Order: sequence, then structure tokens, then C-alpha cells
Amino acid sequence: MVRNKDQSVGHFHVPIRRCSAEELHDTLGGLERVGAGRLGLRLAGLLRELLRTGGLPAGTLMPPSRSVAETFGVSRGVVVTAYEQLLAEGFLIARQGAGTRVADSVTAATPAAMPSLPPPMARPGLPDLGGFPRARWLAAYRHVLMTMSSADFGYGDPRGHQQLRAELAVYLRRTRGAVIEPERVVVVNGVAEGLALLADVVAATGRPRIAVEDPASPGARELMARRGLAVVGVPVDDEGIVVDAIPEPGRLGAILLTPAHQYPTGVILSPARRRALIELAREHVVLLVEDDYDGAFRYARDPVGCLQGLAPDVTVLLGSVSKTLAPALRLGWLVAPRAWQEQLVARRVVTSLAGQAMDELAFAHLLLTGGYDIHVRQMRRRYHKRRMHLVAELDAAEPEVVVRGDASGLHLLAELPPRVGEHTVLSSLRLNGFDVQGLAECRVACPPDAPGGLVIGYAALSPGSITRLVSVLSQAMG
Ligand SMILES: Cc1ncc(COP(=O)(O)O)c(C=O)c1O
Repeated sequence: MVRNKDQSVGHFHVPIRRCSAEELHDTLGGLERVGAGRLGLRLAGLLRELLRTGGLPAGTLMPPSRSVAETFGVSRGVVVTAYEQLLAEGFLIARQGAGTRVADSVTAATPAAMPSLPPPMARPGLPDLGGFPRARWLAAYRHVLMTMSSADFGYGDPRGHQQLRAELAVYLRRTRGAVIEPERVVVVNGVAEGLALLADVVAATGRPRIAVEDPASPGARELMARRGLAVVGVPVDDEGIVVDAIPEPGRLGAILLTPAHQYPTGVILSPARRRALIELAREHVVLLVEDDYDGAFRYARDPVGCLQGLAPDVTVLLGSVSKTLAPALRLGWLVAPRAWQEQLVARRVVTSLAGQAMDELAFAHLLLTGGYDIHVRQMRRRYHKRRMHLVAELDAAEPEVVVRGDASGLHLLAELPPRVGEHTVLSSLRLNGFDVQGLAECRVACPPDAPGGLVIGYAALSPGSITRLVSVLSQAMG
């Protein structure tokens, strides 16, 4: 489909490959064949696939956006969006006066750029993966590669790169009310690595026992148990963990909490419970582990400050970019009291040697330039809309289903009426491609009369999939 034309460049004859808008249209077909979604992104998807499979060799001059727009019967903006997306991803390159060409490194860019499977729908905890700020991240990465020192390519500080620790200290002070200096920050591979390090350190103390909220994230619980800790459940009510119900606090090494948005009930830990927990921690020398996994997203009001800000002497704060940018980055942070930090870093040296300086520096650049704030603001608006939409459709279709918790984060808990079996509804949803979590799976102790519930991740749900989810739920409820 690509014509070669000889063109003189100095005294060399270099064949220039060109592709016309008509040839492109003949090869790709219309935009209708790629389903729903914004036209620019659909066109980008088709072009990406073509480039990935070698349909346009490196160096090929792409047709002008205007003629592609005419041929495909779309506005020029649609084509510009598609070209810009592929420029940002590195599939195309543009030079002033030389047009837009297929990049040399197209095949090398392929595996990372195109996931082969669509992400599961409604899985709690997943952000909208399509919203990853590719262009911003690419610009940050380019900046890092142009400016980082040779020394930065070595094994760096096991606490993470100093530039990121400095930026994170500023950011967490400003947005989460953390009490924090750069030297207190340890960069980790997501909250999961922070929890694993903590579990190892707590397991090596004389109190290898941790209390968790009940219900809680089954993954976090399992991680603790697999690393040798005895796990004790403590009930959660409308104010968060019931502090008076914590059994034998003097035998506990730590308490794992999600104060900003309890997982999965969505409750915010009340001020009275915060004070009671801190008192208990100080009296019994128990470490409070604050998993601030989605603290960046609160919709109706300002985010609640972190527990660590009230009691930095007894609290470890954990967070990550898994909900704000993407889990694939494996970038998180941990802020611990000094004595704990030393042991955690010593453990990290054994397990990981050092961090990933390039990603850390790119994230530091996003924080410094304000790109991260802009992205979080954009995503907050998007998620708020999706949450309101889901709540409205649930309310209209199934008034017996009660939505629990604060309007925060990326998931909500939909409590089922007693007559409806959680298992039946879950099976139907999963058969229809919705990877919703059951509340029973999150419970440590499961009383027989406990109501069923669904933990629904809404961050990546389109309006159409919200409608479909609610209709599958309604049918299953009978
Ligand atoms: C409550 C909770 N904590 C921690 C994590 C793990 O996060 P990370 O990707 O930062 O390891 C998750 C992931 O979904 C989560 O839901």
C-alpha cells in the first residue's frame, strides 16, 4: 500500500515512502468496525495496530490530517487527536516542515503500548487505565533521561531517590496533612511492598500478631498471614474500626487500618476513634499501619487528613500511585517513625537492594511541575461523575440495595437485601464480565445473618457498562 518515490537529499537519492489517505482507508476500513468510544482514540487504535504489525514501514510519511479527515468523513480534530496520541506513544514522529512519519522503533514500542486483553470491568481498586497520562509521563521520562546523572543509573539510596523523597514530603504535607521530612520517606514498590516489609519486621518482634479491620482487603490479610503473622479481625461500624473490640492490645505488634476510606465499607474513621486508637497505640506500644490507598479521591468534600498527621510517633503511612496513575508503575511510599524506618530500610536492602531511579525521577518531575495535581484533578472529576451515575442507576432500579460509605475512592459497597444471596448475584455479574468482589470474601468472621454485599469498582465504567451492570444485577435479584 505504500508508494516509493525517489527524492534528492543533497547528492543522495533517498526513497521516501508515502501513504495516501485513500490507501489508509482501504487498509483500515471505516471507523465503525472498532466499536464504541471517542473517534480519535478509535482511529488511533486502528493505526496503532497497523503500525505494530508492520503495515507501515519505518520512515513512511503519513498523509496530512486534512486529507485523512476528508477520506474518513470525520473532522480534522479527530485525526489530529489520533496522530497526537501515536506521537506521544512513540509510534509516530513529527518534524517541523517534514511531516509526520512512522518512527523507527515501532516494533520495540509495541508490547508496552498495547495490552492484549481488555481490563476486567468493575474490579474494585482499578483506576481508569485508559486515563493514564501517557503524554505527560513520556515528557517526564524524556526529561529524566536527558538530565539524570550517570551515577543515578547505579544502585541508589534504598529509601528511594532523594528528589522524589523531597517532592513527596511536600506533596503529602500539603494534601494529606502528614508530618514528614524527606529523610522520613521510603519509596517502595507500591503499598504491597510496604506491607510486606512491615509484616517481616513485625514478625521478627516478640509480638508477631496484627489486628485488621473486619471486613478488609483479602489480599492485604493474606499477605500478612503468609509472612508469618497471626491475623485478628476487629469489627467495623459506621465510625470505622471498633477500638473497644480490639482483643488483647498488649499482645499486638500492629493494627492495619484504612482510615480515609475503609476498605471495603467506605466508612471514614471518626475523630473519636482516631483519638482512641492513638491512645491505645501509645499505651500498649502498638504500631498503627495506615493504608492510605485511595486518599487522593474524595468527591463531595475535602479529603480527610491522614492519621499519621495526628500521631507520627506511632503511625506508619503507606500510599501509592496505583489508584491515581497506574498499578503498573509499582510506585509507592512509606513514612515511618525513626526506629521502625531503620528496620524497614534494612529489610528493603536485603529484598530489593535499591529502587527504580528512572520511574522515581519521572514521578518527582510530575509532582514538581504540577502535572500530577492536574491529572488527579481530572480523574477526580471523571470518577465523581461515574460514581454519581452508578448510585443514581442503582437507586432507580433497586431501591432495596443500600450504597454504603463516603463518596470517595474508586469503589462503593452495595449492600444487598437479606432475601438476596450474594453468591447468586456475583455469579451472574461475573458471567457477564463484571469482576465485582463479594463482601463475604472480605470478612474475617462471617456471621450467618450478615448481609451480602457487592464491592463495585466504578472508576473505569462507561455509562453503557453502568447500565448493563445494574440490569444484570436487577435480573439476578429477581
Ligand atoms: C486496600 C488496598 N490496599 C493496598 C492495595 C495495594 O496497592 P499497591 O498497588 O500500591 O500495592 C490495594 C490494591 O488494590 C488495596 O485495595
